[in-house]
Amino acid sequence: MSEASIVPGRSSVNVDLTGRSAFVTGAASGIGRACAERLSRAGAAVTVLDLDGEAASKVAEGIGGEALQADLSDYGVLDSLEVDADIVVNNAGLQHVSAVEEFPPERFSMILTIMLDAPFRIVQKALPGMYEKGWGRIINISSIHGLIASPYKSAYISAKHGLEGFSKTVALEGGGKGVTSNCICPAYVRTPLVENQIADQARTHGISEEEVIEKIMLTEPAIKRLIEPEEVAEFAAFLCAPEASFINGASLVMDGGATAH
Ligand SMILES: NC(=O)c1ccc[n+]([C@@H]2O[C@H](COP(=O)([O-])OP(=O)(O)OC[C@H]3O[C@@H](n4cnc5c(N)ncnc54)[C@H](O)[C@@H]3O)[C@@H](O)[C@H]2O)c1
Repeated sequence: MSEASIVPGRSSVNVDLTGRSAFVTGAASGIGRACAERLSRAGAAVTVLDLDGEAASKVAEGIGGEALQADLSDYGVLDSLEVDADIVVNNAGLQHVSAVEEFPPERFSMILTIMLDAPFRIVQKALPGMYEKGWGRIINISSIHGLIASPYKSAYISAKHGLEGFSKTVALEGGGKGVTSNCICPAYVRTPLVENQIADQARTHGISEEEVIEKIMLTEPAIKRLIEPEEVAEFAAFLCAPEASFINGASLVMDGGATAH
C-alpha cells in the first residue's frame, strides 16, 4: 500500500475510549467528520455539532452518536451550549480570501467568533467536568496558518494564531489536573474546504485543478500530496491514548515538510 492510500475506517492507533465522551465541532464534513468517526470507532460517545443539521444527523446516525445543529457564530447559541465531554475537538472553520484593505470587517469578526471565541467558550464549559474527573483532552484543529502567514487570509490566520495561544494557555492551566491541550497543524487536507479553493483557483488562473494542486498548493511541502482527513483524525485519536499523556501545549505539524524550510 502506498503511503498516500489511507483507507477510511482503518485504524492504526490502538486507543480504547470506551466510557469516554467527545464533542466535535464542524463534524458534518471533512476533518471534523473523520475525527467524529475515528473517536466513535475507539469507543467514545460522540456529539456531532455542525451548522448543517441534516449533514450532522447523517454522520451521527452512521456512528450512533448525537447530532447537534448549532451556529457557532451566534453568541446566543454559544451561551446556551452545554458541553460535558471528556474530549473536545475544536474544528469548525471556514476560509475567506481577500486583501486586508478589501476584507469585509463583519466577515473578519464572524471568522474570529467561530474559530477563536467559540473554542474559548466551549473549552470554558468543558473544563470544570474534566477537572472533576482528572482527565480531559482538548484538541484544537489549527493549521500551518497558526504558525505562519500567507497573504489574503488575514481573518483565518489571525484566528488560528489566536487558537495556538489559547491552546498553550489551557495546557498550562490544565496540565496539572489531567487535562492536555494541543493543536494539530495540517497543511492542505483533502476536504470540501480545500476542494472549493482548488476549483476557485483553477477558474481564477485559467488552469486545471491538477495544476492548482501541483503548482500553487504543493510548492512548499517535500511530500507532494494532499493530506487525507483520516490521517488528521488518527493523530487526534493518538492524543487521547495514554502514551500521549505528556504531550501538552504542543503545535503538532503535519505538513510534509512545508514549514521546515
Ligand atoms: N482542509 C484543509 O486543508 C485544512 C488545513 C488545515 C486546517 N484546517 C482546519 O480544519 C478545520 C476543518 O476544515 P475542513 O477542511 O474539514 O472544512 P469543511 O468545510 O469540510 O468542514 C467545516 C465544517 O465546519 C462547519 N461550520 C462552518 N461554520 C460553522 C458555524 N458557524 N457553526 C458550526 N459549524 C460550522 C461546516 O458546516 C462544515 O461542516 C477548520 O478549522 C480548518 O481551518 C483545514
